[in-house]
Amino acid sequence: MYLKFGAIFLLIFAGLQQGAWGKANFDMIFTNCTCRSEDPEGMLSHLKCGLSKSVRRPSFSIELMFSQPVVRFQVNMRIVLPRNSGDDFTLFNLTGIDGCSLLSNKNQIVFIQLGRERMDRFSNVPKRCPWPKDVMYYVRGFRSDMQALPAFNFEADMNLWFEFISNGNKVIRGFIQSRVQRRRTHKKDGSDE
Ligand SMILES: *[C@@H]1O[C@H](CO)[C@@H](O)[C@H](O)[C@H]1NC(C)=O
Ligand SMILES: *[C@@H]1O[C@H](CO)[C@@H](O)[C@H](O)[C@H]1NC(C)=O
Repeated sequence: MYLKFGAIFLLIFAGLQQGAWGKANFDMIFTNCTCRSEDPEGMLSHLKCGLSKSVRRPSFSIELMFSQPVVRFQVNMRIVLPRNSGDDFTLFNLTGIDGCSLLSNKNQIVFIQLGRERMDRFSNVPKRCPWPKDVMYYVRGFRSDMQALPAFNFEADMNLWFEFISNGNKVIRGFIQSRVQRRRTHKKDGSDE
């Protein structure tokens, strides 16, 4: 079970370009993105998390700016697949990942590396520390490449929690909810219905 979902996650975030797989019948849409901040040292000067306006393929956006350079931080990240019956399935639950080595891709966890590479296309987050202050960093319009998922034939919700920790403070606590769903558009060949 773990391996199966692990492989799926890998594919989602790797975004492998495999046009030969043909039409993807599933989209990943984002249904919630919220952040909270606990920032006694006033590190953050801007934080905004939300959903984009696109009706067809809702995505999420995150904007942040710091009032001082970011030299060191840790990341916690957890992905849970909620289930209607039975316990929710925790895909992974990682705590205390070193943020700077994550950025420079020295992190050894393969799916984190791949997620990060995918993210690069939608984000201006620096590749190394320190992060200069007073720069607006963003992740915008993130899309999973469902073309890469010929085997993805079920609908599923996915909840991601992340925390950005600096000097022991959970400066950012974010929540991103997404859903893999069957494509709603009508197709002439009817093969989708
Ligand atoms: C989004 O998630 C937050 C945190 O769990 C929750 O408080 C909020 O009600 C959710 N918003 C929507 C529109 O579901
Ligand atoms: C995730 O891991 C942390 C630290 O090991 C633990 O405290 C927490 O309960 C775990 N959460 C879930 C949902 O498994």
